[in-house]
Amino acid sequence: MKITLSVIKADIGSLAGHHTVHPNQIEVAKERLNEAKKTDLIKDFYVSAVGDDLQLIMTHTKGVNSSEIHTLAWETFKEVTEKVSKKLKLYAAGQDLLSTAFSGNLKGMGPGVAEAEIEERVSEPIVIFMADKTEPGAWNLPLYRIFADPFNTAGLIIDEKLHTGFTYRVMDVMEDRVVDLHTPDESYDLLALIGTTGRYVIQSVYRRSDNLLAAVASTARLSLIAGRYVGKDDPVMFVRAQHGLPAVGEVLEPFAFPHLVAGWMRGSHNGPLMPVSLKNAKCTRFDGPPRVAALGFQLNEGMLVGPADLFDDPAFDRARSLANEVADYMRRHGPFMPARLGPEEMEYTTLASVLKKMEGRFKPS
Ligand code: F6R
Ligand code: MG
Ligand code: MG
Repeated sequence: MKITLSVIKADIGSLAGHHTVHPNQIEVAKERLNEAKKTDLIKDFYVSAVGDDLQLIMTHTKGVNSSEIHTLAWETFKEVTEKVSKKLKLYAAGQDLLSTAFSGNLKGMGPGVAEAEIEERVSEPIVIFMADKTEPGAWNLPLYRIFADPFNTAGLIIDEKLHTGFTYRVMDVMEDRVVDLHTPDESYDLLALIGTTGRYVIQSVYRRSDNLLAAVASTARLSLIAGRYVGKDDPVMFVRAQHGLPAVGEVLEPFAFPHLVAGWMRGSHNGPLMPVSLKNAKCTRFDGPPRVAALGFQLNEGMLVGPADLFDDPAFDRARSLANEVADYMRRHGPFMPARLGPEEMEYTTLASVLKKMEGRFKPS
């Protein structure tokens, strides 16, 4: 059975600054999607939140880039903005709804989209990752490790179905173009690109032996769309697991290392990505540190069975503790690079206007 999974997210305002989504926002989104389920527009849904971002997880049979589904998501975000964010004067109400003229496709409109049409397997475990206070390039390191690093994924060595490797589709977000690279043979080429996380972003991953889609990520860059700083793009992605794909444990394993990602305070700092349960998916210290939650589902004829809150586990305590140590260390740098991002990234933040004011005071040395 062919099913489309659409994970669509937006920051449309939050409680206590950029801290957390308000429960009423989740309620209104649920009501709207429940109506859509009753009319069979969607098969099933789950509404989640990480930090100040609201995620609509939907299954349907309309395929990717369906204007009906994108319109449903857009209208849901609008309704939540009007009925809750604005009414309660939540902070930055409607922030990510950048366009005033929505045309039926969310590309370039602000919300982040990870979606794919898949043939549901006999059993279909899927892990949905949602991050706050970071950007799509944050998935590069874990996606590399899941599908290309045998020190992470034992199956690459010992399972015939994984052994032939994976194809990565990498997007150049500056030029809006993509390139396909095959691992293991082109691993070094792949790493040459995706190490530059602010520009080259993994969009999707396919199993080489049969081109089966294994992972999809959101790649929206708000600042590039709006031409100004609008907050980071707090990405989502989903990964299919097991039976000839990495096991759920192999999919989660890279997050046992809280790698440095761009984002955190004012979208301008490098900080450790802390894996957390949904109950701790709220940013506090220095508006962070950046956080990631993981929800596990089983698809059942398009219905979402679950979720399992996968980082709600003491096995990730050490990663959280290390993330706190790294946060201490990074914070002691104050406004200095590399704790603060470099000039290319800062161009899209409010620093640009501060620097502009000083421009006239420079004279030849
Ligand atoms: C980061 C983020 C926050 C804000 C910060 C300042 O993605 O959203 O760290 O950048 O709280 O916000 P404003 O300028 O709205 O006061
Ligand atoms: Mg916000
Ligand atoms: Mg956010």
